[in-house]
Amino acid sequence: EKAGFDHFMLKEIHEQPKAYRDTMLGRIADDGKSVNLTELSMTAEYVKSIRKVHIVACGTAYHAGMVGKTVIESLARIPVETDVASEYRYRSPIITPDTLVIVVSQSGETADTLAALREAKRNGARVLAITNVVGSSVAREADDVLVTWAGPEIAVASTKAYTSQLIAFYLFGLHLAGILGTKDEATVAGIITALGELPEQVEIILENAPVLKQVAESISHHKNLFFIGRGVDYAVAQEGSLKLKEISYIHSEAYAAGELKHGTLALIEEGIPVIALITQEELYEKTLSNIKEVKARGAHVLGIINAGNEVEVAKSVDELFAIPKTLPLLSPALSVIPLQLISYYASLALEHDVDKPRNLAKSVTVE
Ligand code: F6R
Repeated sequence: EKAGFDHFMLKEIHEQPKAYRDTMLGRIADDGKSVNLTELSMTAEYVKSIRKVHIVACGTAYHAGMVGKTVIESLARIPVETDVASEYRYRSPIITPDTLVIVVSQSGETADTLAALREAKRNGARVLAITNVVGSSVAREADDVLVTWAGPEIAVASTKAYTSQLIAFYLFGLHLAGILGTKDEATVAGIITALGELPEQVEIILENAPVLKQVAESISHHKNLFFIGRGVDYAVAQEGSLKLKEISYIHSEAYAAGELKHGTLALIEEGIPVIALITQEELYEKTLSNIKEVKARGAHVLGIINAGNEVEVAKSVDELFAIPKTLPLLSPALSVIPLQLISYYASLALEHDVDKPRNLAKSVTVE
């Protein structure tokens, strides 16, 4: 049942190219120029009436929602707020009938996410569910459902469900842009082409994975480490940090790279590992200067960078791992893969139960 892999998590990491393809299947027009989400019942008229979007989810699905915020804001120019579901209801969010609430849940059974969905509906908002389970509670109660076709996810640590949620956000962002006319046809077609290239690019990353084993083994000797990045790299840093904590039990924190000098830099000491995501070319110089700050204080830096930047970045970091070049908005669908693998190998090195980490359940049905 593990198809030759030692753990479900590793199997599911390797299923990501298929999960991307399956999630895109039938949702892109034959000419490759538009996204057609025919399963949605929301009309063009409704889409034009949306004034704001709330994305609500827990854990890894929340991290997908952080990327989703950037995707929808940049493609559709609608303001988006992303909330952790267990906090959402209690901050008395301003939910109006022109608010689209997007709940994201792999299982579709997470109690807090379901409660947020009900709160949204009570306030007259329309709810779109992004879920991996067709007949789940969240799917049944939402007005619209966008299924992620990742297939069953068995490992407690979410991998392919997260990345399929990203694909769902890209598709939905393009769907909105198509209706709202917020992106010209050539830009939309360019993003669709780049989406189509992702599965093969993931395969390239998976082929290069063995080098990450050594990185993970050296990390496994540490008690603390940091993930840093800017923009969507920061969202991915948070997911990388959660994954590592969850299955290796090593403490880590994710920081927006520019925030370090507002406090956290005090924690940087000789030898501490820092994993820096540097995929956003327009923020490149700024992140590099943050890397210099941590390196000057003795940090050991692994840079997750775009292929082609190796020579330039090599002098600023101790180690690097290159991901194939894609559009800045799509990079989370690639940059998270090495982080998934690092946490997998770190957990393995520490001889933990990779698929069933302590204290955790796959589906959290209590609030
Ligand atoms: C982490 C993880 C959890 C879930 C969270 C939400 O790897 O799997 O953080 O993402 O419990 O679960 P769903 O998506 O089923 O609502």
